[in-house]
Amino acid sequence: SAAEKGGHEYFMLKEIEEQPEALTNTLRGHFESGRIILDEQRISDQDLRDVDKVFVVACGSAYHSGLVAKYAIEHWCRLPVEVELASEFRYRDPVLDRDTLVVAVSQSGETADTLEAVRHAREQKARVLAVCNTNGAQIPRESDAVLYTHAGPEIGVASTKAFLAQIAANYLVGLALAQARGTKYPDEVAREFAELEAMPAAVQKVLSTVDQVRDLGRKIAESKAVLFLGRHVGFPVALEGALKLKELAYMHAEGFAAGELKHGPIALIEDGLPVVVVMPSPKGRAVLHAKLVSNISEIQARGARTIVIAEEGDETVRPFADELVEIPAVPTLLQPLVSTVPLQVLAAEIARTRGYDVDKPRNLAKSVTVE
Ligand code: G6P
Repeated sequence: SAAEKGGHEYFMLKEIEEQPEALTNTLRGHFESGRIILDEQRISDQDLRDVDKVFVVACGSAYHSGLVAKYAIEHWCRLPVEVELASEFRYRDPVLDRDTLVVAVSQSGETADTLEAVRHAREQKARVLAVCNTNGAQIPRESDAVLYTHAGPEIGVASTKAFLAQIAANYLVGLALAQARGTKYPDEVAREFAELEAMPAAVQKVLSTVDQVRDLGRKIAESKAVLFLGRHVGFPVALEGALKLKELAYMHAEGFAAGELKHGPIALIEDGLPVVVVMPSPKGRAVLHAKLVSNISEIQARGARTIVIAEEGDETVRPFADELVEIPAVPTLLQPLVSTVPLQVLAAEIARTRGYDVDKPRNLAKSVTVE
């Protein structure tokens, strides 16, 4: 009923609007007496300190949350991080030992490939930390440590609030490792946590763009394809934006690292093709920002319809943006928590305009428990 959907036509929009709360609930209780704490830890602090390599294994949107985590964990912990599709990882010969931490990210905690990746890792004596939205699911049960996301039940098949909660939980994993390894001073960990705690309000702010983005979605709903560009943490956001559009609107959509533009994707640009560009902060990442401005001007000159997601007050992008969606200024590494939101709304509205069931896209299941 409409009441269950919080007055919305479909659950996905309700769940998009629940994201500030999902983040608040996911962060709650994880910073006590000056320390990041996990929900369950069956390995010693010493074992965490000894970690010398991290793999993140996951599927679908959870995999994209892992790609975001790579930037944070490398930066905060000075540890090598590989992010792997669980279905590839489990059939390769990944090099693991007891000092490897495998972070398994799964909303359901029951995804078959992710569960098998966990078992594969444990057979090689690696430690496994689960990030999961479902209490007592199989993946956390078989892991050495657990951090639960508290997004609440997610009805929409395409992940939204669970995805944002996974990103937040992955940051907590990074801070827990930095704390264990001493690569961040306790006051720095406290500061990073305080920045995370400010994110629900920033996500609330970005929700004020929902109507603008829905209008935009209706305008481009009949396009044949949409491209997404980003770099640094904006790259996984571009991948997630494209995945959402495939899942919901059954459109051809691709996410690219903007630095690869001239190595292929620019050949796809044709008159009227919508290209969504996720801009880094002009202050936080000035060099990358300048490169992206140049990318946008190049694709616009070739006829692309540019849809630019940029920090509020970023005037340099304005001349090249056919559509500009403003997001609040936040710390660089945390930007995916805000920049993802307009892309979720865009995909949902395009799907709705094309007459599709936003909550139950064809051929997809909420969790893939058989291969
Ligand atoms: C399915 C869902 C996706 C989800 C993926 C991984 O494909 O439709 O939304 O990201 O499974 O699910 P998990 O429960 O492991 O996070």
